[in-house]
Amino acid sequence: MPARKGKRTTGAPRVPTRKAAEAVRPAARQRIRVTVNGRPYEAEVEARTLLVYFIRDTLGLTGTHVGCDTTTCGACTVLLNGEAVKSCTVFAVQADGAEIMTVEGLAKDGELHPLQKAFWEHHGLQCGFCTPGMLMAAYAFLKENPRPSEEEIRIAISGNLCRCTGYMNIVKAIQHAAQEMAAR
Ligand code: FES
Ligand code: FES
Repeated sequence: MPARKGKRTTGAPRVPTRKAAEAVRPAARQRIRVTVNGRPYEAEVEARTLLVYFIRDTLGLTGTHVGCDTTTCGACTVLLNGEAVKSCTVFAVQADGAEIMTVEGLAKDGELHPLQKAFWEHHGLQCGFCTPGMLMAAYAFLKENPRPSEEEIRIAISGNLCRCTGYMNIVKAIQHAAQEMAAR
């Protein structure tokens, strides 16, 4: 029977394409060291691992949430060397040597941080999914601007989405926390 046009006619092994070869190649791994909430950690991670998954899955700090994975919602916000970052937008290997603070680092000696207290007392959360990211964004913001206006607070948390749309109480809670922290 004549060979059909375009069909392989020999039994020679097929040469894998570059794409196929990359798909089966083990992912590159790298050892990283970080300090999280004052505690040192060392671990081997795949080069493609996002910081948020390293924090949650490797370190077990699940207070940092994943709401979108696409830099949209801010639920994954942590402090990286003092700056608020969306940890789904940073590779874990990029954090090698860094100081990281997550929402678990806010409370000290069993006492809630004024921001946490204010969110509680002023109903700054409903389902609470956005709350860790809101707290960390607000924490970083108040360090830079301890006496903010309402408008400045709204701008500061504009990268954080609350699907329960509780923005009024979130802003109120941050205002109260700012007053409490300034009075200390
Ligand atoms: Fe990172 Fe939404 S999970 S911005
Ligand atoms: Fe539910 Fe903000 S409290 S997403």
